[in-house]
Amino acid sequence: MKKKVLSLLLAAAMTAALVGCAGAAAPAPAAEPAAEAAETSDAADVAETAADAASGDLANAKVGICIYQFADNFMTLFRTELENYLISQGFAKENISIQDGANDQATQTNQIQNFITEGVDVLIINPVNSSSAETITDMVVNAGIPLVYINREPDAAEEQRWQDNNWNVCYVGCDARQSGTMQGQIIADLGLEAIDFNGNGKVDYIMVEGDPENIDAQYRTEFSVKALTDAGMEVNELDDQVGNWDQAQGQQIVANALANHGNDIEVVFCNNDAMALGALQAIQTAGRTVGKDIYLVGVDALTEVVEDVIAGTITGTVFNDHIAQSHGAADAAINFVNGNTNDYYIGCDYVKVTTENAQATLDSLK
Ligand code: BGC
Repeated sequence: MKKKVLSLLLAAAMTAALVGCAGAAAPAPAAEPAAEAAETSDAADVAETAADAASGDLANAKVGICIYQFADNFMTLFRTELENYLISQGFAKENISIQDGANDQATQTNQIQNFITEGVDVLIINPVNSSSAETITDMVVNAGIPLVYINREPDAAEEQRWQDNNWNVCYVGCDARQSGTMQGQIIADLGLEAIDFNGNGKVDYIMVEGDPENIDAQYRTEFSVKALTDAGMEVNELDDQVGNWDQAQGQQIVANALANHGNDIEVVFCNNDAMALGALQAIQTAGRTVGKDIYLVGVDALTEVVEDVIAGTITGTVFNDHIAQSHGAADAAINFVNGNTNDYYIGCDYVKVTTENAQATLDSLK
């Protein structure tokens, strides 16, 4: 009971923090362009759509949600929380439609077209390819439907277009540079002496990347290593492979790297937790022991991984706050449906998870 109340409070605090940083520069290390709040909207059609919905109540509003791929652990947590929260805010379950893009942009573009034909009041889109955002935005804005992007951030030029045209389009997500930096810091905080098993004076690491088209993968790859060099450590990259956010691919990549580089691998960086779980399987199969002769970090704070951090089988992870992000996305959608505007960029903070706070993190997620 106490735990429930605590986690509710925590969830509320997280949402407050998210709303609090909307429109402001995202946290260190740096921010995407912070947008000013849009006070007005030019798109008459958008205003009309929102006014229609607002004249009824949320129970009659239709929301279309496109997820890049259902078979993604993190996006599964995200969409489940998103649906539950929308219902808790007054949407009817039958008016919430969630589509699986199956990691194929053409499939997702069809789904968006169908939502437009159906006349949904708002769209929440996790694009398969961030680079398709311009096309998606044009389709949706031309149809007079407000749009909330989630998880995969369109580039700065695209976000600038929303602002320049006063469109009802926004992005809700976290700054992946921060998560990469935190991964690197978790390792750097161990100190070179503890990391440098082969005694060459360097941090010998392998990198397991998510989809390279995705800014989260690019930034986590870059900033995890930068945190080590910023801490004054010399680094040596033994391998860098694309695992597409996928556990099985992560396992295969790390198994191959361990076969090729053996005991020289001191640190395994994974751009997300699903791949870290795969990496852990490969590490254990190879007879290596995390914390004793190798270190492993991920991002997301999936329950299973936080349990591993508590057990010491994964060195650390970074909480990718699906609760704050899904609530932020739903709140932005509700604002649009009610005829209000949103900041163009709505950010949130990642949180480092190590043995020190893993139990508290787990409790707050339950
Ligand atoms: C998450 C990954 C997920 C990806 C999907 C990232 O922010 O950390 O686990 O696969 O988003 O786009």
